[in-house]
Amino acid sequence: MSSQDRFKVDRFKIDDAGSYDSFAEEFDQFDEIRQPVLRDLFASADLSGCGRLLDIGTGTGIVAIEAARRLGPKATIAGIDLSDGLLQSARRKAAGIWFLKMDAEALGIATDSFDAILSLFALLHFPDPKRALDEMFRVLRPGASATIALGSAPPRLSWAGLRHRIARSPDLLRLARGRLLLAPWFLDRLLREMYPSDSHGEETELARHSHVRGPQVLSLMRAAGFSGVTSRWKGYEHSFDDPERFWLVQRVYSSFSRKRLSALSESDRERVKSVFLERCRRVLAGGGRLVYPYAALFVNGRKR
Ligand SMILES: C[S@@+](CC[C@H](N)C(=O)[O-])C[C@H]1O[C@@H](n2cnc3c(N)ncnc32)[C@H](O)[C@@H]1O
Repeated sequence: MSSQDRFKVDRFKIDDAGSYDSFAEEFDQFDEIRQPVLRDLFASADLSGCGRLLDIGTGTGIVAIEAARRLGPKATIAGIDLSDGLLQSARRKAAGIWFLKMDAEALGIATDSFDAILSLFALLHFPDPKRALDEMFRVLRPGASATIALGSAPPRLSWAGLRHRIARSPDLLRLARGRLLLAPWFLDRLLREMYPSDSHGEETELARHSHVRGPQVLSLMRAAGFSGVTSRWKGYEHSFDDPERFWLVQRVYSSFSRKRLSALSESDRERVKSVFLERCRRVLAGGGRLVYPYAALFVNGRKR
């Protein structure tokens, strides 16, 4: 990689983690959305005999803290992230956990040191996901496994995908009739319309170009050395009746909107927000819904 490309990648990582810094408080305000995925992440993981667990892209520590609760005080739990703001919040919440500032693509951790790795909604933030998976493989001890959850559209040829598409088909009509607003696309689209830009710097290649991510991520896991790689997809949704909270959830969790809005002036941001809230109120007044559909692909792999 040329030094210019290296600089771009480093810049992306700093900006990505930095974009969360001022949202540490808001980040933990949506437990109704995060708890179901958290439960399913733990249900997908094999933590039997686990005494040392690492959470990659820990954010405010939701996974690490739940791991500490489940594994008890004798377990060593560490969470790594690059956002100072989120790490500070994590440290305030749990004193017994090691929350460390570290790049997932270059872990300052000895080889073969952990019994399990968990990672929730972080992989798509890494410009070189293969490198991050190589690092996860390296720091796991032989016999241990990694369980990674990432956002993805449903697998094309699967019962879960078919059921999901059938269940969501009435939404097409509601959308066409202006009786449904979906997060994060509504705010992302509004921003693209109000402030068009040629820049695509808000998301990594993997996040921007592929929506059905299973095949790609499974082959990256295998290429990193993991064996027995399996995956499971699940869709979730949450309805909002308060337009302000519908704004906040997209402001915090959509990488595109969070970064684009942070780059705008205060007055431009307020302009976007007022158009957004006005549209939400109109949809609700007409009997429509504000919905945040989200999904996770849970991928498991073992180091033999
Ligand atoms: C969507 S958040 C998920 C946080 C947490 N796992 C959760 O589910 O609440 C993605 C996280 O990845 C972190 N991140 C982004 N790039 C990173 C990198 N290169 N190394 C480590 N963490 C990174 C961000 O700072 C952010 O905390």
